[in-house]
Amino acid sequence: MIRINENYLKLKPTYLFSEISKRVNAFRESSPDTEIIRLGIGDVTKALPQACLDAFHRAVDEMSQDSTFKGYGPEQGYAFLREKIAEADYRSRGAEVSADEIFISDGAKCDTANIQELFAPDIRVAIPDPVYPVYLDTNVMSGRAGDLTDGRYDNIVYLDCTSDNGFVPSLPREKVDVIYLCFPNNPTGAAITREHLKVWVDYAREHKALILYDAAYEAFIRDPSLPRSIYEVEGAREIAIEFRSFSKTAGFTGTRCAFTVVPKSCMGYDASGDRHSLHAFWNRRQSTMFNGVSYPVQRAAEAVYSEEGRLQVRALTDYYMGNASLIREKIKSLGYPCTGGENSPYIWVRTGMDSWGFFDLLLSKAGVVCTPGAGFGRCGEGYIRISAFNSRENAERAMERIARVPNA
Ligand code: MLT
Repeated sequence: MIRINENYLKLKPTYLFSEISKRVNAFRESSPDTEIIRLGIGDVTKALPQACLDAFHRAVDEMSQDSTFKGYGPEQGYAFLREKIAEADYRSRGAEVSADEIFISDGAKCDTANIQELFAPDIRVAIPDPVYPVYLDTNVMSGRAGDLTDGRYDNIVYLDCTSDNGFVPSLPREKVDVIYLCFPNNPTGAAITREHLKVWVDYAREHKALILYDAAYEAFIRDPSLPRSIYEVEGAREIAIEFRSFSKTAGFTGTRCAFTVVPKSCMGYDASGDRHSLHAFWNRRQSTMFNGVSYPVQRAAEAVYSEEGRLQVRALTDYYMGNASLIREKIKSLGYPCTGGENSPYIWVRTGMDSWGFFDLLLSKAGVVCTPGAGFGRCGEGYIRISAFNSRENAERAMERIARVPNA
């Protein structure tokens, strides 16, 4: 008899985006003639930038000759990619990050999910609400959450993000050890200013907390005054781990490449109060459990930093941001209060009814898929998230269809 990890019993039975797929598939079967427009999961639709494709092809060709073939790569990822990231994403913006503090991976989802393994089972975790479900679910799986009452787990500290605080959470009122933050935010699209991020960094330093900073959407920031990395804030190197991804930036959702920065100055403590390097711990974890991202994919990611790659990636994100502004304006003109869509590819819409009800309404009456806010947490109830990742034509058609929905 195999004993199971009973923490899994505390989870909602399906992952949010799997539940949405289930409902969309059921609708497709019942209404086979309705063409569905997907503005739900943030999945890119445009082809990889040419510079990435060219690099990808060249690297595949290298794999075809014994003399240039590559087997297992370096555990942290190839230096050619880590060095480009350190220079272009950090040092050029005044943030001190070195190439050997960067770990290449196959996704920010896995990294934000796995990172909690480094911490003791009884730490206090602060999680925004609404939130990308991975942060919460992985802490539930590993036993940090108590019972679920009224949509909230005991032992988890929730940081409410509402229209009252502009969807940027206030500091916790009780002692916490690890804090998840995501900016530009998924799902609300909110951005954080440098001054406000400094408040969080100062808090973490003062209270010996660690910030897990998900910056997967930084490429969509258009306001030059906003920080793209937490390391642009002084003092963050000692208290923050940052996650980034090529998925949304360069169209890599199907290609898979991301990275995590664990500064060597980031420390954790054992029960006796002795310090340990989180960099060494993450290295140990990754080298034991992960075999790296394929060589051609890392070459394709490196091409993001070439001159033409930069221009192409900017054109790609500009394209989606064009959709975002179109969606935002249309939704506002229909009378729905909304945020996001200015420095983020997500638009967060107050619906005036329950979010799954509104989701079903848009699906059944307009054939448009969105993401119900309640799926991201209790504070998401009454909202939906609309993703800008689709073609311009589909974004326009989706908005026309929504405008025609009675009660929408
Ligand atoms: C989302 O729609 O929230 C994201 O695409 C999910 C992800 O990146 O895993």
